Amino acid sequence: RHKQQNEGALAFKRIVVTAGPTHEPLDPVRYLANRSSGRQGYAIAEALADLGASVTLVTGPTDLRSPAGVTIIRCETAREMQAAVSRLENLDAAICTAAVADWRPATEAGQKMKKKERNDAPAPLPLVANPDILAEISSSGSSRPTLVVGFAAETENVEDYARAKRLRKGCDWIVANDVSPAANVMGGHENQVILITSDSSEHWPRLTKEDVARRLAMTIADWFSSKTE
Ligand code: CTP
Ligand code: CA
Repeated sequence: RHKQQNEGALAFKRIVVTAGPTHEPLDPVRYLANRSSGRQGYAIAEALADLGASVTLVTGPTDLRSPAGVTIIRCETAREMQAAVSRLENLDAAICTAAVADWRPATEAGQKMKKKERNDAPAPLPLVANPDILAEISSSGSSRPTLVVGFAAETENVEDYARAKRLRKGCDWIVANDVSPAANVMGGHENQVILITSDSSEHWPRLTKEDVARRLAMTIADWFSSKTE
């Protein structure tokens, strides 16, 4: 890999990246999940490590190889992801790209759930809310990372919804992306995002997920260096 121009710009920064979907079990053979590939989060973890950060990637199930130079913690469910994140200390930044399932089945059957009769009506599927990992990190008081970045996957009113989401979650920045079928980014190799801060919106061009990652990593490095100047 090429040596980066800003190599070392994030030296001594401890950063957690969450990525991938979560799998929420129904029974030993079934789960609720979503179409997140994890690609954007893995690319961000690698780009931050390339700038010298000490990166822990907490990831749900994906097909991706572990990024170079990153500590990886694999988990399945939202609650496992929350537990893994909460064990990390002295974080300078948290980048939450994971597509955490908002709800999980209220109970996990110990055995495979069976139909009773051939044409049985399906049983109702009670769900309960999962913890909101980004909101918890954002409100973690004295242990809050200096910079907390969320992602907002939206299929309509992308910028407005993402701005409202930034306030609701209490994070510093939101990277908003359009995941409508027309935009065709979910599971793909490209992304088109808006970087939303408390007082600005930056519309980035359509880029590969690696380029979005490098640009975000540079923006984060610039932000830390402007704070210490
Ligand atoms: N997130 C999280 N934990 C959750 C849900 C979301 O950490 N249980 C994080 C995601 O990683 C992302 C941000 O919150 O950084 C926004 O996720 P999103 O699903 O877009 O937001 P929600 O508040 O769940 O709203 P929606 O109703 O649009 O799903
Ligand atoms: Ca959600």
